[in-house]
Amino acid sequence: MCGIVGVSGRADACEVLVEGLRRLEYRGYDSAGVCGAGLDGAMAGERAAGKVSALAAKLAARGGLAGMSGIAHTRWATHGAAEERNAHPHRAGRVALVHNGIIENHAALKAELMAAGRTFQSDTDSEVVAHLFDAALDVHADPHDAWRAVVGRLQGAFALAAVSESAPGLVFGARKAAPLLAALGNGTGYIASDAMALPEDAATIIYLEDGDTVVAGPGSADVRDAQGRPAQRKQAAGPGVFGRVDKGPFRHFMEKEIHEQPEVVGRTLAAYLDLAGGAVNLPAAVDFAAMNRLLIVGCGTAAYAGMVARYWFESLAGLPTEVDIASEFRYRDPAFAKGDAALFISQSGETADTLEALRLCKAAGLITIALTNTPHSTMAREADIVLPTLAGPEIGVASTKAFTCQLAALAVAAGAQRERMDAQAVQAAIADLSAAPRLMGEALNLRQGVDALALDLARSDIVLFLGRNSLYPLALEGALKLKEISYIHAEGYAAGELKHGPIALIEEGVAVIVLAPMDALFDKTRSSIEQVRARGARVIAVADPEAAAALDGQSALTFVTPAAGRLAAPIVMAVAVQLIAYLTAVHKGTDVDQPRNLAKSVTVE
Ligand code: M6R
Repeated sequence: MCGIVGVSGRADACEVLVEGLRRLEYRGYDSAGVCGAGLDGAMAGERAAGKVSALAAKLAARGGLAGMSGIAHTRWATHGAAEERNAHPHRAGRVALVHNGIIENHAALKAELMAAGRTFQSDTDSEVVAHLFDAALDVHADPHDAWRAVVGRLQGAFALAAVSESAPGLVFGARKAAPLLAALGNGTGYIASDAMALPEDAATIIYLEDGDTVVAGPGSADVRDAQGRPAQRKQAAGPGVFGRVDKGPFRHFMEKEIHEQPEVVGRTLAAYLDLAGGAVNLPAAVDFAAMNRLLIVGCGTAAYAGMVARYWFESLAGLPTEVDIASEFRYRDPAFAKGDAALFISQSGETADTLEALRLCKAAGLITIALTNTPHSTMAREADIVLPTLAGPEIGVASTKAFTCQLAALAVAAGAQRERMDAQAVQAAIADLSAAPRLMGEALNLRQGVDALALDLARSDIVLFLGRNSLYPLALEGALKLKEISYIHAEGYAAGELKHGPIALIEEGVAVIVLAPMDALFDKTRSSIEQVRARGARVIAVADPEAAAALDGQSALTFVTPAAGRLAAPIVMAVAVQLIAYLTAVHKGTDVDQPRNLAKSVTVE
């Protein structure tokens, strides 16, 4: 989604800003822009539709931008097409401004500003804020007062950054229901929507809270709360040079992240399992034994991780569990009962709908748990309990290693405290899970075979994924992965649901990928295979060795994943569906890490 960088107090401000935009590219965007401001306040900017490289080329053609401070932005279009005139920064009089989010009362504000004689250049909701700030600078002697007056008039969700000719060297920021942080280092002040955008010398990060405004100067950050009082906010060390991530020998971040999984899943498991002592180490505050019902909420892949976990929580722990996608949950007036607790799954910890669902549950008095890959995220700060996943930064828009780390942590959590399993069953579950990293490593060897299939799939118009039990959500995840990055129409179904409609899609040659482990439901899965095969489908099975042998001749192609227990099976088979999606997208030549229209972190509704 949109990205913001602001800098104050560096002679190379423009270069730092553009480099920050490059580091934010993974978030997904469709235009970019920058504005530099000199010590005398004089401002100059450039904007471009498309990639940051297009902006950089325009800047190079004009010999760069001078300035000791400035702001920059990558835009993911909400109001107005992805064109240069809608790209940020927006200029109004003495002001340049960038915005993430949506200004809900923009129409009323625009009408008021137009009545006062102001004219608009873009179709965005953001431009009104630039005009409001310019107008407020006429009224307030102190620019921070002017800025706070503007922010107080805005409704909706926003992160903002602005510079003004009237306040040379200062960068103004504000945050409400959208991420924004300030940072300090080496005589410089920074503002950013994501710590990834910060340069190495940003030694201290200051996490702004909703309602905060900030004015960053060279080496300073004046943070005020919603009432205008000076505010001390949580601080952390900046990412530094070790926080940087690159692709290493891989072509794409997604490819690298798929291959990192044995290591990061192992690391996540080690955080929750004492393998030597055969014990589970959950934070003391987590008490699944005290819960009567667990509500799991997330979006996209995170919600699918929750769906897999539902099978585990219910069958291993006997804990009634419901899973909801956050955008539905938060608006459906959910009914709560005594003993309910809520678990929110989010790689970024910033997804707008999941965050609001968390706030809703907290306000209703539920214990809230955030399972997140981003320890300083808003969800991590606001939840009662945090369960970290240790996947490391995930840059590819299509989630891979965050998903399998979520599964690993959820598998440990399920049943850990409910005493439904005897000591032997606990040891068996721990052994099952502990094997997952090694088995994922073996599953990566499928790559060569999958590549040949991917060449064919790249020419398909439709691909179906089928699974049962905890592999049903993995069928949904496989289809999501494929459609996200290859743009092929893919759907996932519970295999038993086929006859209730989806089987009408089957005709000669349609690819049906069936997740078929040798489990208690194998015979039913095999009969689904027969039903689609009888109608001309090309069946591709993802099966463990025993299931592969039993399927002999029934699938056109079988990828044999290593034998795994019931907890490890979805984690291991995830590698196969990720490789299928990744290699198909590579054959199609799509932008794998930044697929069209998608954002890594969906911070607006
Ligand atoms: O950061 P989150 O885990 O909250 O993100 C949730 C979804 O937006 C995310 O999983 C999305 O579905 C991915 N692009 C899937 O690959």
